[in-house]
Amino acid sequence: MLRRLWDVIWMRFYAVWVCGAGLFRGYRCHPFARMKGNALTIEAGCSVRRAALDSSFGNIRLSSGCWLNDGVEISAISEVRIGRGTTLQRNVTINGQVGLGEGCLLAPNVFISSTSHVHDRFPGMPIREQEGALPRDEFLRLYNRPILIGDDVWIGVNAVLMPGVQVGAHAIIGANAVVTKNVPEGAVVAGVPAKILDYRLGFEEKNCAE
Ligand SMILES: CC(C)(COP(=O)(O)OP(=O)(O)OC[C@H]1O[C@@H](n2cnc3c(N)ncnc32)[C@H](O)[C@@H]1OP(=O)(O)O)[C@@H](O)C(=O)NCCC(=O)NCCS
Repeated sequence: MLRRLWDVIWMRFYAVWVCGAGLFRGYRCHPFARMKGNALTIEAGCSVRRAALDSSFGNIRLSSGCWLNDGVEISAISEVRIGRGTTLQRNVTINGQVGLGEGCLLAPNVFISSTSHVHDRFPGMPIREQEGALPRDEFLRLYNRPILIGDDVWIGVNAVLMPGVQVGAHAIIGANAVVTKNVPEGAVVAGVPAKILDYRLGFEEKNCAE
């Protein structure tokens, strides 16, 4: 109980401190943004609305000119890095170890997580208990597969990116897609699981040549 109270007080204090620092460092931060942990870097020109950023277990870096709308949730394992000028619409969730390139557009409700629940280690054991039964370093070794996304990528509304996928620069992920495999540069993918529909203008030849 006291621990929880302390967490809430510390989170508020840290958020006020981070948001206040923005006045001097040239970024804008909503006073009701929620911050946890202290490994958060926000560069000048960023704008953070009522988002929740948890850097208790890893670094979060927002490069200059990023824009995070209300309801965005980022929690880091190792590192979450958002490239310059990338925008995250309402309720985007980013978990784990994720690198997002520059100038990307993430539509509402996009879900990107480099980890998953432990569901296949202990026969017959409930999933909730499997997670507790695995030491944290073992969990990270087996269940954290970093996600890398290139520059100028547009991710449509409700899309889900599975652990370990790499999305090439200039790609488009369609609305409601579930991305289970790597996406080539400039490809337009959609569906469940996501398949290549086409290539963006100017990227067809590059991929044909390979
Ligand atoms: C992926 C996308 C960019 C493709 O647009 P497009 O190139 O104009 O594609 P088209 O509309 O010509 O569709 C081509 C084919 O793909 C299918 N398709 C398009 N988008 C799809 C999607 N999200 N899921 C499944 N199939 C899709 C179409 O039904 C069509 O199939 P058909 O040839 O059998 O008729 C677009 O459909 C999309 O999903 N945009 C994201 C919208 C969004 O999230 N907006 C939020 C604003 S930030």
